[in-house]
Amino acid sequence: MFDLPVLAPQPSLTSDFLTPRLHDNVLASSMNAHAASANAPKLYVETYGCQMNVSDSEIVKGVMNQSGYAMTDKPDDADVIFVNTCAIRDNAEKKVHERLMHLKYFKKRRKDLVVGVLGCMAERMRDELMETKQIVDLVVGPDEYRRLPELVERAGGGTKGIAVKLSRVETYDDIEPLRTEGISAWISIMRGCDKFCTFCVVPFTRGRERSRAAHLIVDEAKRLHDAGFKEISLLGQNVNSYKDEAENIDFADLLRQTARAVPQMRIRYTTSHPYDMSDKLIATMAEYDNICKYIHLPVQSGSDRVLQAMNRHYTVEHYKERIRKIREYMPKCALSTDIIVGFPTETVEEHRMTFDLMAEVRYDGAFMFLYSPRERTKAWKMEDDISHDEKVRRLNEIIEQQQRIAGEINQIELGTVQHVLVEGPSRRNPETEWQGRTDTNKIVIFPHLTDKNTSTHAGYVVGDMINIHVERASAAILYGQII
Ligand code: SAH
Ligand code: SF4
Ligand code: F3S
Repeated sequence: MFDLPVLAPQPSLTSDFLTPRLHDNVLASSMNAHAASANAPKLYVETYGCQMNVSDSEIVKGVMNQSGYAMTDKPDDADVIFVNTCAIRDNAEKKVHERLMHLKYFKKRRKDLVVGVLGCMAERMRDELMETKQIVDLVVGPDEYRRLPELVERAGGGTKGIAVKLSRVETYDDIEPLRTEGISAWISIMRGCDKFCTFCVVPFTRGRERSRAAHLIVDEAKRLHDAGFKEISLLGQNVNSYKDEAENIDFADLLRQTARAVPQMRIRYTTSHPYDMSDKLIATMAEYDNICKYIHLPVQSGSDRVLQAMNRHYTVEHYKERIRKIREYMPKCALSTDIIVGFPTETVEEHRMTFDLMAEVRYDGAFMFLYSPRERTKAWKMEDDISHDEKVRRLNEIIEQQQRIAGEINQIELGTVQHVLVEGPSRRNPETEWQGRTDTNKIVIFPHLTDKNTSTHAGYVVGDMINIHVERASAAILYGQII
């Protein structure tokens, strides 16, 4: 998850989940008074992977802040550096390894610097830690973050620490995440995953599925509203199997309760599993204006045989029927998906079925990946029999088609007026352009007019809702003027 998935990634951006997200503007109000003092030790956190990891980094910062740490966005200033890692594909892990090698230089300059590896690679890093001893002082898995202050303290005293046990109950309910983004907040509603898709490492890195109590999630949403946030995203690897057993509340109920509790906020969620995307959930989304009309519904493959080999529990027909239902209830709902090409034994014809399914559904965006064998998964035992070149050929084929379709879909928006939540300066031209997002999760770029004499801008601030007349569109972005 992110930033929610960026729609229609460019070919080179298929690994968007791997981009490190550096969080800086710590909300002063949520800082522990002790940690805010000038002498407080400083923590720098670098996050790789999905939105769950971004959300976890905020939990980690919350835990460390409570123990007296201040945050910094500069690794040079830090007394403690954490790298929150992702193990979803081989290239994700490679990126982290490269980064750790780089951190060696920081460590050389400052002998007392504590470096910790957190997150989904922790379990695997345990052995490697011995080889890379001079860089890493701590290895801590996703369910052991409460122990971080104690482990950091011991590491400062020269004792290296490993804590990688997975829990059946840990949900960090009582930890207040230290949120660092101004208007959009992530709320983890559950942890782990029980689906065991045969290609996926997540059930092994994050353990069994467990849900948080609904009333705590709704309370958190209200607090975020009161703190000035404008948008929340409910997070889980498979939100459709969310269940508050004590109160008998399912995900659709939770979404409804949240939408009612904070009617002025935009509400998003990710990720849905097509197997149990219920009619009730679709109807709930349609009923509330503040639930964003955007669904990320990963299909992975267009072949029933491959879906079965992936242990995805649905057929292509079931998936298409879900899409029809979504479009019946919400004709304007944007859709995105995840695709894996080159799963073991996937034939050219089966790949063609994926290509055809994507042409039929016409996704607003898609994350497309080369299959990457992951240790401990069922598919790891299968031969990775599609050559790298053939995987790349298949990937390029679907990327090209997806770019064209997303471009065509966005062209339809020309001349429309979009209701946009202002996020701030654009990445490419921060001086002259700002960006926001539509309900359907499309990025909209518009000119930012600043009066140089007064430094005031064109009547809006970050977090405002504005209307944009769309004048131009690419496959990934809408461009327009404020009206
Ligand atoms: N829980 C989400 C996905 C989490 S991982 C879901 O079930 O949809 C995000 C995406 O990474 C997956 O949807 C899949 O497309 C991709 N992915 C996971 N494991 C992979 C692997 N071993 N090789 C390539 N892509 C993989
Ligand atoms: Fe992985 Fe499947 Fe769970 Fe998603 S649902 S996290 S792909 S095992
Ligand atoms: Fe997320 Fe990567 Fe872990 S995608 S759950 S951070 S393996």
